[in-house]
Amino acid sequence: MKICVTGGMGYIGSHTVIELIKEGHEPIIVDNLVNSNPEVLNRIQKITNVKPKFYQIDVRDEEKLDDCFKQEGFDAVIHFAGLKSVGESVKKPDLYFDNNIGSSKTLLKVMKKYNVKNIIFSSSATVYGVPKHVPLVETDPVGQAANPYGQTKIEIEKILINEAKQDEKMNIVLLRYFNPVGAHESGLIGEDPNDIPNNLMPYITQVAVGRLEQLTIFGNDYPTKDGTCIRDYIHVVDLALGHLAALKAIKENWGLKIYNLGTGKGTSVLELVNAFNQANNLNIKYQYGARRAGDVVVNYANADKALNELNWKATHNIVDMCRDAYLWQKQNPQGYKK
Ligand code: NAD
Ligand code: WQD
Repeated sequence: MKICVTGGMGYIGSHTVIELIKEGHEPIIVDNLVNSNPEVLNRIQKITNVKPKFYQIDVRDEEKLDDCFKQEGFDAVIHFAGLKSVGESVKKPDLYFDNNIGSSKTLLKVMKKYNVKNIIFSSSATVYGVPKHVPLVETDPVGQAANPYGQTKIEIEKILINEAKQDEKMNIVLLRYFNPVGAHESGLIGEDPNDIPNNLMPYITQVAVGRLEQLTIFGNDYPTKDGTCIRDYIHVVDLALGHLAALKAIKENWGLKIYNLGTGKGTSVLELVNAFNQANNLNIKYQYGARRAGDVVVNYANADKALNELNWKATHNIVDMCRDAYLWQKQNPQGYKK
């Protein structure tokens, strides 16, 4: 299939492009490089011997997106494009609403014009808000977003759910990612945040290579086994394979489907730090600090629905995630920037 991969130069998108190529699909990347580097294309080629076609377009640019769809004739869209920093979204809510919701609306409009009926959307466990119980299942209510970023995911889900109601021929898959971490086993592509990482794993890997002094664990007085928060960390390659499983499952009049993409296991911050040290024979320096505003105590998935309906299950364990995350950072101490 010829797949439009919006945001395909980004962390999850690039890993998915690689798996699409390996599966014999023709992914075509649409990305404005607001949070990624053109070097990613060379790394994809190094890994797959294929250099995917790349349109440097803002998905909000209807004219250019229209030209791309006219030119290509896509079978499906995987929609990764979006800004994803929780902290930045609090400072710049309008930017996040315009970019994430605006791009999704433009994309849908162009898809309908060219009769592209299949879309897989990068949603997030953040739509559940503060979980009332764990593990989370897809029928759990969509909560109140804790930040503008999370609100954009809730709004885009609503738009897509409504689209599916309006047009029964639309096949719409919402994939709610938990905490993606790790990198391709080659260490050639990986997570490359701008500025100081907000997320735990890239912060740890930057401490490991000496870019950052030490990790601060935000709170060790939570009601958990070791006092630190628990999350469902999932290897980014498992996440990428979840998109292929969804693509494979899509068929005529399939309608709207929602899946959690997680491992179904909770790992505490301290457990992740210890696993990272064990996997890489390191001793990451850390201190305990105050709790971070907005953090939920425990958050992990029930991923049975994806297994039952997509025949997909995460296979990488926490040591794999830590080993691959470190290999990427060790080989690319400054990320894609030379
Ligand atoms: P990323 O920032 O690495 O990738 C996003 C890509 O989209 C970047 O290459 C960026 O340049 C591009 N982009 C952003 N706005 C665009 C626009 N208007 N037009 C064209 N390109 C645009 O992020 P990621 O971690 O790969 O996340 C991909 C998607 O998955 C995002 O929608 C994110 O919200 C979602 N998600 C990520 C996580 C996570 O922890 N990484 C968790 C849940 C959901
Ligand atoms: C994990 C745990 C922190 C950094 C975020 C977004 C969510 C999604 C995934 C996009 C927490 C602790 C972190 C540090 C720490 N992204 N931590 N020191 O908050 O679960 O989810 O990324 O959709 O929307 O909210 O991930 O990696 O930021 O934090 O102690 O320097 O690590 O307190 O308990 P989070 P995270």
